[in-house]
Amino acid sequence: MNPDKKKRSNLIYGGYEKAPNRAFLKAMGLTDDDIAKPIVGVAVAWNEAGPCNIHLLGLSNVVKEGVRSGGGTPRVFTAPVVIDGIAMGSEGMKYSLVSREIVANTVELVVNAHGYDGFVALAGCDKTPPGMMMAMARLNIPSIIMYGGTTLPGNFKGKPITIQDVYEAVGAYSKGKITAEDLRLMEDNAIPGPGTCGGLYTANTMGLMTEALGLALPGSASPPAVDSARVKYAYETGKALMSLIEIGLKPRDILTFEAFENAITVLMASGGSTNAVLHLLAIAYEAGVKLTLDDFDRISQRTPEIVNMKPGGEYAMYDLHRVGGAPLIMKKLLEAGLLHGDVITVTGKTVKQNLEEYKLPNVPHEHIVRPISNPFNPTGGIRILKGSLAPEGAVIKVSATKVRYHKGPARVFNSEEEAFKAVLEGKIQENDVVVIRYEGPKGGPGMREMLAVTSAIVGQGLGEKVALITDGRFSGATRGIMVGHVAPEAAVGGPIALLRDGDTIIIDANNGRLDVDLPQEELKKRADEFTPPPPKYKSGLLAQYARLVSSSSLGAVLLT
Ligand code: FES
Repeated sequence: MNPDKKKRSNLIYGGYEKAPNRAFLKAMGLTDDDIAKPIVGVAVAWNEAGPCNIHLLGLSNVVKEGVRSGGGTPRVFTAPVVIDGIAMGSEGMKYSLVSREIVANTVELVVNAHGYDGFVALAGCDKTPPGMMMAMARLNIPSIIMYGGTTLPGNFKGKPITIQDVYEAVGAYSKGKITAEDLRLMEDNAIPGPGTCGGLYTANTMGLMTEALGLALPGSASPPAVDSARVKYAYETGKALMSLIEIGLKPRDILTFEAFENAITVLMASGGSTNAVLHLLAIAYEAGVKLTLDDFDRISQRTPEIVNMKPGGEYAMYDLHRVGGAPLIMKKLLEAGLLHGDVITVTGKTVKQNLEEYKLPNVPHEHIVRPISNPFNPTGGIRILKGSLAPEGAVIKVSATKVRYHKGPARVFNSEEEAFKAVLEGKIQENDVVVIRYEGPKGGPGMREMLAVTSAIVGQGLGEKVALITDGRFSGATRGIMVGHVAPEAAVGGPIALLRDGDTIIIDANNGRLDVDLPQEELKKRADEFTPPPPKYKSGLLAQYARLVSSSSLGAVLLT
């Protein structure tokens, strides 16, 4: 018996002087017996803004049953969700990355204010899994996460589609390549129900990360939102929290440097979203683990890309689930000596033990997950670039393009909207490098994702002919020669702020370089002339965020 298991809630609900506190609980039907048990939060990222998390409130009832079966008293609370796919391409997107911090802060707020002994996190849409995992690392009390699962594949004239096809169809329609009727058909049938966007975009990537970090039950990331396996995992996750409380196992026992190396390895092997770079840095920051962009590039160089999923490949999370999900990828990596098998996880067992016990379906899978000896790419899906344009670093998803080297003239825009308009008006030519700046963590603020622009470029047939660099971010659904997270950002005078139309930009993913072909003296002269623009927001959440947020090379965490 762990003597600490009621330590936190006893401070709030134990002893005669806490009778008023117990009265509040009894007003909700709790008994003395309930209050004597560990009291745990069930943190649900939920609202009716979109389908990604819509089913999670229902699943929280199953989690509660699991908690009760393990001897705990569950209390549900919600954290906000920003649906990236809806906010995309608008001012609303500035709140997306902000919401990651709000999710983490909300969990800290409710769990600490009420002295809960642990918590279960339920998350779906892009920023909610990292926000929840940041809270787990920050609070460092027994906790476990369950990802909510993908939507089922959409359908367009008999072919499976995802939301990515709808974004790209907008570009195609603007060029007269498809009819309004086809665009409408896609709109009506791309998302058939609850769950997150179907490809290995940011949400599903972060789902894989929950398992790869050891913070979720093995196999729990890949079942679709509507699969009955979700109900089983919800129950087991609630029960597992109570075991964690019993043995006193905490997130920072799990979130070692080696656990982050495992997560980065799975990210690189799967060709997941560039956003995972930001999020893993942020979770590591909360866990007190020193992780840098160089760790990502080092691991990328040694990790073959073995997974064939959208946006770079052909399949969706639904397909990965049918062949074995995250455990299939992790088993292959472990057998090749690329994972640390001895790190502890929320099961109380090591990664190696978990994978030995996990039963994979006996079905052909090499069309989706290849053997290590025959990868899709010999190195990982993401590369870190550095150079005269990005002294702190930038990120390119090499799995989302066949092009490794691009040299072309800069077409400079100071916002996403300006760039989007130019693309739709056909003002971008082959070989151009579209530069979108003042969209960084401070400058945007909030590092908007450029999916509308990148999809329009792809939709116009310029996907492998036009490059784009930005101090903002990309959606996990972005494909093409797209370099994001350029740091330092324009708003703090990073070299991207000094670019002018026509400057020659060189993107060299083979050698990890991002440069502008200008003499040092010219860059220095422009830097001396540079005056930072005033902050875009003087009050409210975005103003607060812009003041506190750090560089994307540090995970865009809030510094206090
Ligand atoms: Fe929520 Fe894509 S918009 S997962």
